[in-house]
Amino acid sequence: MRKLAAGNWKMNGTAASLAEVAALIAAQPDPACEMLLCPPATLISAMAQAARGSALQVGGQDCHPKTSGAHTGDLSAPILADAGATHVILGHSERRADHGETDALVRAKAEAAIAAGLVAIVCLGETEAQRDAGDTLQVIGAQLTGSVPPAATAAQLVIAYEPVWAIGTGRTPTPDQIAEVHAFLRARLADHIGAEAAKVRLLYGGSVKPSNAAEIFALPHVDGALVGGASLKAADFAPIVAALSAA
Ligand code: PGA
Repeated sequence: MRKLAAGNWKMNGTAASLAEVAALIAAQPDPACEMLLCPPATLISAMAQAARGSALQVGGQDCHPKTSGAHTGDLSAPILADAGATHVILGHSERRADHGETDALVRAKAEAAIAAGLVAIVCLGETEAQRDAGDTLQVIGAQLTGSVPPAATAAQLVIAYEPVWAIGTGRTPTPDQIAEVHAFLRARLADHIGAEAAKVRLLYGGSVKPSNAAEIFALPHVDGALVGGASLKAADFAPIVAALSAA
């Protein structure tokens, strides 16, 4: 399985930020893993153009479950694909919180993404209160079952485990906590989609940075990372890509 280093720029980035793309491609011209950046939708087309012929792939951060229609301000999966996206992040905890996205909606979006030929990166993760209550695996299991299309293949699907309390906080779970959740995800995914589950990339996300990447990538069932803050600068993201390439 080819591992995946994915960057999520969230609501950050203007045309000037494309300088980071050139720097990243120069720093990692031929990584041993896949390399993806998901900028604001306004930059997808220009970033895809800047990345043409390189190892860098470009993705969206959300899509609508319908292909087209009267949905002001939304973007469909075919529109993202037309702009040059190959992947789309779905069900990020910030969208679940800011926009009330449910598991059923995330699943519908994932089905739309796959139908448009995009790789769906489905995000899951517990809140701090859920972890403290001992509910982590139950919460994540329910999110997986509700959000992941059961017919998805390994080529169409990536799962990102992102504990909400680790996102943008500088706090990360212990290696044992990450390993426990990833082993659980692999098993639960097998119940849900069958044998393909063995080949689905399971990413860890939440305060991944150059200084902790190698330790996280050494854990079983960790097939890459979804990186927020540390994906904005090539100087931070390139060493994370290098650490994954070496894992
Ligand atoms: P972070 O964000 O790396 O800034 O913690 C991760 C994410 O939300 O994908």
